[in-house]
Amino acid sequence: MVRHSNFMPSKATKEKKQLVIDAGNGNVKASVLGETEVIPSVLSQNCGDYIRGGFKWGEDEHWVLGWDNTGRIDKLEVINRDNGKLEYLPHLLAGTISAMRHVIDPRDNIDVHVLTLNNDKRSLIETAVQKAAVDLSVDGEPLNLKLSLKNVYPEGYGASLHAAKVYDGSTRVAVLDIGNGTCNLSQYHVGRAGMPRREIFRPIPFGVSSIVKNTVELYRNETSNGSVNEGLIRQALTTNTYRYLSTYDGVDIRDVTKRAVEVWLDSPEVHQLMIQTVALLQQKVPVVLCGGGFAIDVVKDEVICRLAGNAPDETFLNVPTSPATLGVVGLAEVLHG
Ligand SMILES: Nc1ncnc2c1ncn2[C@@H]1O[C@H](COP(=O)(O)OP(=O)(O)OP(=O)(O)O)[C@@H](O)[C@H]1O
Ligand SMILES: [Mg+2]
Repeated sequence: MVRHSNFMPSKATKEKKQLVIDAGNGNVKASVLGETEVIPSVLSQNCGDYIRGGFKWGEDEHWVLGWDNTGRIDKLEVINRDNGKLEYLPHLLAGTISAMRHVIDPRDNIDVHVLTLNNDKRSLIETAVQKAAVDLSVDGEPLNLKLSLKNVYPEGYGASLHAAKVYDGSTRVAVLDIGNGTCNLSQYHVGRAGMPRREIFRPIPFGVSSIVKNTVELYRNETSNGSVNEGLIRQALTTNTYRYLSTYDGVDIRDVTKRAVEVWLDSPEVHQLMIQTVALLQQKVPVVLCGGGFAIDVVKDEVICRLAGNAPDETFLNVPTSPATLGVVGLAEVLHG
């Protein structure tokens, strides 16, 4: 008797894609298939068809995340909302999918890996991930994605993986992250085969946005009209370009931003964090510097000056080439093996 098998050769099953996301106060950092993107965490309720970051939920909910919002008066900046990172996580995720549409296809099955300060709120993050995918369309095309929250990691986790690679053999590594709204120091234990496990975590709510505010405040006291455009200051800081904006009302911008960083470093909370970082260096725990703050030259130089001046050995201080995306890239590399 000939037995017929029920097995029908099927089309090759589509491989799951891994999306790593750190949806921050200032920027979303995301990585899919080796492509990494930094998208401003700025939203607007606008029709964003054919705009990168634009998406639609259902029939009538239109949003745009990212670059196109910079000049809009109705823009919503995540940092200006209490709990904004959590409240807008579905929007930040859906907008990221739109911005990375070139590596995401309709009906993709995607594992989402979230790096977050809110790693104790897994069920809220799970709900946010589901909300992002339901009835999501980009450029008029329904995407019908299957998004699953695969894992939630503390924010410095990806950077600690990088640190563990650079300082191979070290059982402890630390991460100093200067973000837009927050700055934090964490220490991880790195087992021989296991995954890093966080054992110290010190967050403070003073990041680059505090430095921008300090700069504006210094100008208020020092210029004749008593004010300066905040956007201009942020532009000078984030582009590391003072050439076209070298002075404002006769006052040197680079000099003022440098002093604003010093004011920030001298504030009790930041000062304490630097002391704790130096203490780790003195115990020979390697410290990796990450977060977009370290992509700003004047911030990087002043912080390194404070740390290295008090550290016994500078080789325990690591400055990566792309500090803003180190976390997502560090994790994505490990996930892809
Ligand atoms: N590549 C870059 N070059 C220059 N400056 C940058 C760069 N990336 C980020 N920045 C600056 O550093 C700031 C912090 O960036 P980052 O992406 O680390 O913040 P965030 O993670 O969104 O904030 P938080 O961690 O508080 O949620 C940005 O607001 C921006 O001003
Ligand atoms: Mg951050």
